[in-house]
Amino acid sequence: MTEFAISNRCKNIDASGIRKVFDLAAKRRAEGAKLIDFSIGQPDFNIPEPIKQAACLAIESDKNSYTVTQGIAELNAKVCQYYKHRFGFDPQATLITSGVSGGLVLALLAMCEQGDEVIFVDPYFVMYKHLVTLAGASSVIVDGYPEFDKLPVDKIADAITQRTKIIIINSPSNPTGCVYPADQLKQIAELAKKHNLLIISDEIYHQLCYDGDVPSVVNYAPEHTLLLDGFSKNLAMTGWRIGYAAGPKQLIEQMAKLQQYTFVCAPAPLQYAALAMDKCDISPIIEDYRNRRDLIYNGLREKFNVVKPSGGFYIFPQAPDGDAEAFCKRALEKDVLIIPGNVFSEKNTHFRISYARDIETLKEGIERLNRMV
Ligand SMILES: Cc1ncc(COP(=O)(O)O)c(C=O)c1O
Repeated sequence: MTEFAISNRCKNIDASGIRKVFDLAAKRRAEGAKLIDFSIGQPDFNIPEPIKQAACLAIESDKNSYTVTQGIAELNAKVCQYYKHRFGFDPQATLITSGVSGGLVLALLAMCEQGDEVIFVDPYFVMYKHLVTLAGASSVIVDGYPEFDKLPVDKIADAITQRTKIIIINSPSNPTGCVYPADQLKQIAELAKKHNLLIISDEIYHQLCYDGDVPSVVNYAPEHTLLLDGFSKNLAMTGWRIGYAAGPKQLIEQMAKLQQYTFVCAPAPLQYAALAMDKCDISPIIEDYRNRRDLIYNGLREKFNVVKPSGGFYIFPQAPDGDAEAFCKRALEKDVLIIPGNVFSEKNTHFRISYARDIETLKEGIERLNRMV
């Protein structure tokens, strides 16, 4: 077979951690095991009916061509309306992206030069590190252990150098489910203003919140913040690839230029479908997920060191023997699939559970994990 000289850009991206876990899981399944799967990073409800119907209608009525790069005007208008309702002022500009992932790619490519530095907190959403590498920049990863519900503001301040361009904030967080308090977000906003940095605020889980509203850094530094959000998690549209960016006009314009020559536009009929979001009431889902959050937190807290999550559908307990990979291997022998923390972290001490599973599965999984301690 022909061997190509694959780019270092690609070679420098290491996806082996998660692959190893899924290979082991596939082996167990091949042996006939029926796994309790706590690895899945997506909600377990279906896309609400009004949105499905709107998608079918959009396809049937031939709304299938390219849209303008920025995304259809109606959806941008809706995003503006939503932003204004949430923050009390208009965004400078908006862009419909191919999910939050698409927004992250565009923002990092638009901002980063070789040697620039991007700060984010450990543990972190897996994509950040790899996309920063892809953009030619360096990740500066600030230790956020063990109090995941607090931002390590002083450590972030110490990590800022002449090369720092961006601070990425993710609240509620994947993998911890924790939400950062307003006063700490305000301090990050002050840092961004002082050093003229961009904050990328990844708020993809902010509607799935269980202990009151999730504060946003947008409130404290709108001119310095690019808000990335989308419909993958709150409306279960993970496969549809619709998200949005809202923030500084200068940056959004550059992101749109890059989108024109990469993604082109977000999927056309699904942009129209997303307009039906107003017809969806997700409050019963939030209630349901809050109950599951309570169940998993209360079920694990006696035997595991764990911070109570307030949003999303993840919890990030400490492995009892301090070696998450070993613990996850042992869990797999008990047919429980959990993800070792080193997939999302520079450390290997914790593990991630996605509790977007039905109550019976959760109960059984909790019992098996507790029995292992
Ligand atoms: C924190 C975080 N940001 C972004 C994404 C990507 O979302 P999307 O499906 O909108 O690309 C995910 C998905 O798991 C996530 O957990």
